[in-house]
Amino acid sequence: MKEPIKGFSKLSKAAKLEWLTQNNFENPEATLELFQSYWHNDETVQKKHDDFIENTMTNYYMPFGVAPNFQINGKLYTLPMAIEESSVVAAAAKSASYWMARGGFKTEVVSTEKIGHVHFMYEGDASPLFNEFNALEEQLRAATKELTANMEARGGGITAITLVDKTADLDHYYQIEVCFETCDSMGANFINSNLEEMAKSLEAFTAAHQDLNEDKLEVVMRILSNYTPKCIVRASVSCPVSDLASEGTTGEDFARKFKRAIDIANAEPYRATTHNKGIMNGIDALIIATGNDFRAVEAACHTYASKSGQYRSLTHCSIENGTFTYWIEIPLALGVVGGLTKLHPLVVKALEMLGKPNAEELMGIVAVSGLAQNFAALRALVTTGIQKGHMKMHLMNILNQLEATPEEKVIVANYFKDKVPHHREVVNYFCNLRGVPVPKVGG
Ligand code: MEV
Repeated sequence: MKEPIKGFSKLSKAAKLEWLTQNNFENPEATLELFQSYWHNDETVQKKHDDFIENTMTNYYMPFGVAPNFQINGKLYTLPMAIEESSVVAAAAKSASYWMARGGFKTEVVSTEKIGHVHFMYEGDASPLFNEFNALEEQLRAATKELTANMEARGGGITAITLVDKTADLDHYYQIEVCFETCDSMGANFINSNLEEMAKSLEAFTAAHQDLNEDKLEVVMRILSNYTPKCIVRASVSCPVSDLASEGTTGEDFARKFKRAIDIANAEPYRATTHNKGIMNGIDALIIATGNDFRAVEAACHTYASKSGQYRSLTHCSIENGTFTYWIEIPLALGVVGGLTKLHPLVVKALEMLGKPNAEELMGIVAVSGLAQNFAALRALVTTGIQKGHMKMHLMNILNQLEATPEEKVIVANYFKDKVPHHREVVNYFCNLRGVPVPKVGG
């Protein structure tokens, strides 16, 4: 039976690795060697990675690919994408070329405000807080004056403070809801620091007010919301329906089927989940490459997809007067300063590759990446099916596992050009080609 370990985080990296490998692996020496082989050979780079989190043992590699030829608002971009799923970068690059030939992508930042809350309970008559909200607001703003000075100098700060009665949803529950403009930063630390000051100020206001009782007030949480419906970006493409024609399909037929696919994602949450997952393939890859928080973006997008009360498609499409218009509208709270943006050497390069965009420009690029990914998926789904493209990658993965030489890969790929490369059949064909026995199933 395994024993718990006390004070693990205080051990040296070497001692942690010693404990980890000795207690959790069949071959500790080989495991230690493997972990160490993933360390960066420049100690200063490795130290940076070690310091991102607690208890770093090694690095977890993820492919960093690029998708060129994205024409966005008339400007050309090469998108950096950090992702492990084999078909995503290829799909992005295909969509980029497709839409470059049809006028490119357009983006528009609709809004840029982020939201945070002081969540509190008041087990009494809270009406003085509402009646004297102006005085309370003045006090809240005074309490955060020092914290907001720098952000105000950059054109941001607190844009609105509201007192919200939530007692219809939960007994005694109220909020101070605060809107923030955080310019080029994602703003999480800024928002949370302000909210913490505001909570203290609310307590002081309550204690000092003759008609309020501080014992009836309980501040429960002071935290930003990752749901950012006031931080919205739209990306779109548009072309004559006739331009969508391809071998064997008229533009009208393609547009009609494509729209049907979006209608289905709007009507059916099972499909919407997969539809939006495909969109997030494009979004997350760029979010990770640019050092942003993909969990925050995922959470916001999925809540936004449910804003009607049912989980629906994040992309939309119209066919009007012979024009096909297709767009995505999503909440994206991103930063190009702070966080990992200066710390991770590859994030620095990803942002440089994009021409060092500001946060709004990055919002547009990320939305385009999601739209492009969805386009590639739906285009395949309503025409040839998804497996054709996926299978090519799948075949290469099998051949890589089999350690096929480049020459063998060409021969096997040629043989499976017009066949579905089922794993067993690839192994059989490969073994026959090499003249080695076919391994037994499960062996
Ligand atoms: C696979 O990662 C994503 C797709 O399933 C998305 C979709 O079905 O729209 C291809």
